[in-house]
Amino acid sequence: MTGKPGLFISFEGGEGSGKSTQIRCLEKWFRGSGHDVVVTREPGGSAGAEEIRNLLLTGDPGRWDAVTEAFLMFASRRDHVERTIRPALADGKVVLCDRFADSSVAYQGYGHGLGADYIRNLWALAIGDFKPDLTLVFDLAIETGLERAGERFANVSAAEDRFERMGTDFHQRLRDGFREIAASEPVRCRVIDAAGEIEVVSQRVIKAVKDSLARQGR
Ligand code: TYD
Repeated sequence: MTGKPGLFISFEGGEGSGKSTQIRCLEKWFRGSGHDVVVTREPGGSAGAEEIRNLLLTGDPGRWDAVTEAFLMFASRRDHVERTIRPALADGKVVLCDRFADSSVAYQGYGHGLGADYIRNLWALAIGDFKPDLTLVFDLAIETGLERAGERFANVSAAEDRFERMGTDFHQRLRDGFREIAASEPVRCRVIDAAGEIEVVSQRVIKAVKDSLARQGR
């Protein structure tokens, strides 16, 4: 828990796991019950962090080595936390964030082999013990995820596909990594089965949120 009046929920998972759609569904649900909601994303979410995002997501897959990439992620994250997330929480808002520091543990730690401990040290250096109140980990077979992500890129002509173009082994390490993260922090993290219709997955999300809030006494 952040110990602040607001509520901070992060959405995690591999490529094409449907996080973005589910964020919009949960945003609607919170707004419907009268909450002020801020939807944000990483890398990015503040002016400076969006500039760093551009460095991170465009160009050749080998553009950055793993360490540089990890530092850029945490530089952007610090800016995002200080300028966007903390102020919103202090105002009592619900903050829904598309990816947060667990993505660095999964992608740079497990995916690129820096190791989870290395990333958790960087996490502590950059933002101390700041973390989400609840983290939803969207879990999906990698073939299904990459298929969905492929369709998205065919439809939305985005050039931000540096990570999608990494190999299948990388995506398997990611999935295993996210599952290990969730298992190591079972109170903060909930694994969501991301297979199935949007509405079905959304009901799973809402149930997980209600359960978690009740468990945290909120
Ligand atoms: P984005 O287009 O937002 O993709 P997605 O819909 O999958 O979230 O791109 C974010 C990419 O950055 C994604 O491939 C995961 C990667 N990433 C990291 O490697 N480390 C991180 O700490 C974060 C936040 C993202």
